[in-house]
Parts: sequence; structure tokens; C-alpha cells
Amino acid sequence: MSGFEDPAATWNARYDTPGYLFGTEPNAFLREQAGCLPAGGRVLCVADGEGRNSVWLARQGHRVEAFDIAEQGVAKARALAQSAGVSVRFDVADADRWAWPVAAYDGVVAIFIQFADPALRVRLFARMVAALRPGGVLILQGYTPAQLAHGTGGPGKLSHLYTEAMLRADFAALQIRPLRDYEADLDEGERHRGRSALIGLVALKPAG
Ligand SMILES: C[S@@+](CC[C@H](N)C(=O)[O-])C[C@H]1O[C@@H](n2cnc3c(N)ncnc32)[C@H](O)[C@@H]1O
Repeated sequence: MSGFEDPAATWNARYDTPGYLFGTEPNAFLREQAGCLPAGGRVLCVADGEGRNSVWLARQGHRVEAFDIAEQGVAKARALAQSAGVSVRFDVADADRWAWPVAAYDGVVAIFIQFADPALRVRLFARMVAALRPGGVLILQGYTPAQLAHGTGGPGKLSHLYTEAMLRADFAALQIRPLRDYEADLDEGERHRGRSALIGLVALKPAG
């Protein structure tokens, strides 16, 4: 399950403001690690909200698809793509019901998708791995349990947060390079600002 009883309504209400809640610049870990994605590749952005990561990836020359449960967020993402002069295929969809392609993507990007409780997370991570083609790369960013003390963003629920051991186990089918548990000052819109306890993963799906 998602973290809210009605996640679409909750997120639509949050996105019903004139600005971009998470800003229009990409996540810092994604910007730093995006060079690991195959050039000009087909990339999926999971739950990309207002589109800051997908639009930036399209500007880097990738063929990008993205979905999110919140229609209001996707409308803003479409406007962001248009103003950037890039094309991104956006869907409004629940991650648990989306028709996930298999072995299709050169990259799967998942930035702050910690709406998933443990049961949904297992299904979601398995679909993300299956969606990668051999040689494809996963880039994932989330918060660790230490984030509960910072209160500067994230779901505020221990069971939704990631640890290094959890990600190593969940992505055992991939070659991990790197997996980093670190603290940094985030400035990614009003909902992700300040000292933060983060985890960043880049992982490669082995060929064959
Ligand atoms: C913290 S925001 C991050 C958005 C984006 N990835 C970014 O980094 O700017 C989490 C996003 O997950 C979306 N979301 C929540 N539950 C979802 C679900 N079950 N399926 C798809 N998207 C969902 C929300 O609408 C929201 O846009």
C-alpha cells in the first residue's frame, strides 16, 4: 500500500499550488550519477511527480518515460517539458497497477519514491529490476532511518525508509556500484530542504 489512504487525492492537493513543490532542477544524486546511464538510452522515471528529473534527463538526450499517481503533478510535468522544449511520455498511473514493460529500459530512475510500505516496496523493486534490460542501470535515492531525527523531508515512517542492508538484499540481482549512506544539505523545493540523511544507489543489471 501507499502511505496514504487516498494517495492520488493527497498528492493532487499538495501539487495544487502555482510553484513546483520539489523545484524544477533534478535531484542532486541523479545529476551526479546520470553519466552512468547509457547515452541516449530509454529511461523510465518512477513516480516523477512534477517532472523535474524526467525533463532534465530528456534535456541530456535520453528518451524518457515517466508516470505518477497524481494528475496535478503530471500536468505540471507536461508544462515543464513543454517549456524546456523536450518530449517526455507521461502517464498518470498507480505504480502498483501500471503496465510495467519487461527488459525494456536502459535506465530506471527512482527518486524519493518512499510512498511504498514494505509489501508494495517489494513488488515495486521487483518490477523495476524486471523493467531493466541487461546492461541497464538503476539510479535510486531515498532517505534512511536517521532522517526521522532531521524532519526535513520524507515519509516520516520508519518502515518506508531504506537501509544499506535492505537495498543490498532487494537488489541482489544487480551489480551494486555505488551504494552510499550519507548526510547532505538538500535544497530541492520546499518539501526537501535542509540537512538530510540520504542513501543513493547505482546498480547495473548484468548481461545474460
Ligand atoms: C516525494 S514525491 C517525489 C516526486 C519525484 N520523484 C521527485 O523527486 O521530484 C513522491 C511522488 O510519489 C507519487 N506517488 C505516491 N503514491 C504513488 C503510487 N502509488 N503510484 C505512483 N506514484 C505515487 C506522488 O504523487 C509524488 O509525486
